[in-house]
Amino acid sequence: MTLPAASADGGTGQVPPLEVTPLDVTLSEPAGPVPAPAPVLLRAAGLTKVFRTDGGPVHAVRGVDLTVRLGEFVAVMGPSGSGKSTLLHVLGGLEPATSGEIWLRGQRVERLSQARWALLRRRHIGFVFQFFNLVSNMTVADNVELSALIGGATRREARVRREELLAELGLSAKADSAPSRLSGGEQQRVALARALAHRPSLLLADEPTGNLDSANAADVLRLLRRSHEQGQAILLVTHNARAASMADRVVNLFDGMIVDDAPLAAVPARPVAANVVELRG
Ligand SMILES: Nc1ncnc2c1ncn2[C@@H]1O[C@H](COP(=O)(O)OP(=O)(O)OP(=O)(O)O)[C@@H](O)[C@H]1O
Ligand SMILES: [Mg+2]
Repeated sequence: MTLPAASADGGTGQVPPLEVTPLDVTLSEPAGPVPAPAPVLLRAAGLTKVFRTDGGPVHAVRGVDLTVRLGEFVAVMGPSGSGKSTLLHVLGGLEPATSGEIWLRGQRVERLSQARWALLRRRHIGFVFQFFNLVSNMTVADNVELSALIGGATRREARVRREELLAELGLSAKADSAPSRLSGGEQQRVALARALAHRPSLLLADEPTGNLDSANAADVLRLLRRSHEQGQAILLVTHNARAASMADRVVNLFDGMIVDDAPLAAVPARPVAANVVELRG
């Protein structure tokens, strides 16, 4: 099979400047009265991540340039081991970058201390991990509510938000359960509710439907779609073509590099997504 040509900038060959500006329209956009693009929320430039292991360095992310605008929904696809989780962890400050720049809401953040990153995440980032990471000795309700409280909600707001999200994900009956009593699919949905509880500007979600049967996956996708419609910016790692089809753009990673970054409407018959699915086997 043929991989798409390498392009991290939508095929324009131009790397836009690193300021938050609504003016960096790419040359491929049509002339005429197009709406100004939303401001940049997250931008990575020349981002790399190398893990030092006994077996030698592992170059998990190799020079990624990526922009996510306010309210934009970007799907990240790619075969297993292509660096999707690592990229998400580095963008969310959970792993330090080896080199390159990360800008969040106009602030350069890749060199921040862990404490500053933690503050930033509380305010602006919701994280859904590939493997849940729920707090096991707290109930489902508390897992969700705590996230809202940490993000600055009042007790009442946190409770209302928790009730809203759990109801939406069909989990109200499980509010008082410990996460360990829940199925994998239920835990994944709680993780999503927790990530959205503090109304982050950016949701970083690592295969939130990866462990779900189709009914549970549909619930999660519905919530993602609805929160995106309400202006939630989402960077979603997924192997699921249906999930990716909801995005404004699909970015394909291969060997730690972006090999394609295109608005969905411009992807003819989605050959890229199909290729990536084939690559997995
Ligand atoms: N903590 C680590 N130490 C060493 N190598 C790592 C570490 N985490 C990830 N890697 C390696 O980095 C590469 C990218 O891994 P990553 O988990 O980002 O892939 P992925 O695209 O998320 O894969 P999957 O689809 O299976 O979740 C792999 O070769 C992996 O083995
Ligand atoms: Mg992964």
